[in-house]
Amino acid sequence: MNYFIHTERLLLRPPVKDDDKVLYELMSDDRLIKFLTWEPHTNIETTRNVINSLIASQQNDKGYHWCVCTKDKVIGIVSLIDVKRTIRTWTLNRTELSYWISPEFQGKGYATEASKAVVEFGFKNLNFHKIIVAHAAQNIESKSICNKLGFEQYAYEHDAFNKAGIWHDLIWYELIKK
Ligand SMILES: CC(C)(COP(=O)(O)OP(=O)(O)OC[C@H]1O[C@@H](n2cnc3c(N)ncnc32)[C@H](O)[C@@H]1OP(=O)(O)O)[C@@H](O)C(=O)NCCC(=O)NCCS
Repeated sequence: MNYFIHTERLLLRPPVKDDDKVLYELMSDDRLIKFLTWEPHTNIETTRNVINSLIASQQNDKGYHWCVCTKDKVIGIVSLIDVKRTIRTWTLNRTELSYWISPEFQGKGYATEASKAVVEFGFKNLNFHKIIVAHAAQNIESKSICNKLGFEQYAYEHDAFNKAGIWHDLIWYELIKK
């Protein structure tokens, strides 16, 4: 399958091993991770391991990942993670959207543009029936993306995770294939 996606301003393409330097630069930025599940990378080996696991997850239908590229450089990653195809006799075809964009490039609509294209690709090409997404209640930038993409809130989860000693609520959304 061809995973390359072209949008008005962006190229979205799967990560490759040669992205290690640019992704290390971006993923070592401590401004990015306030609400994310990971900590800033402190050595390039960590980034290489992450790239390898992203590539493997795609090969095993466990997750799909796209480097978000402007004309000049990689600026973030948008993913469809935690793929669930079945539970025993049930068909699920469900995945979760996640995204981050380097602080230098935030506020320009890139996450919205890339996420919209990835959601469309997921429904059209990857046979997903439902895409879910969650954001920390205080993460208003992420909330705005969920709303603009037409996701519907279905749950408010109290104390969903603890990061740096603080408990955060999560708001959960879903979008079903039309
Ligand atoms: C959430 C995130 C991906 C948004 O990326 P982005 O490319 O800036 O998003 P967009 O430009 O498409 O805009 C999304 C909304 O955030 C707002 N926004 C973005 N940066 C902002 C800033 N610095 N201050 C205030 N609002 C901001 C935009 O105005 C927009 O809202 P609007 O359409 O209501 O005006 C980015 O902030 C990020 O990577 N954050 C850290 C990682 C993270 O939290 N990921 C999400 C986990 S659920």
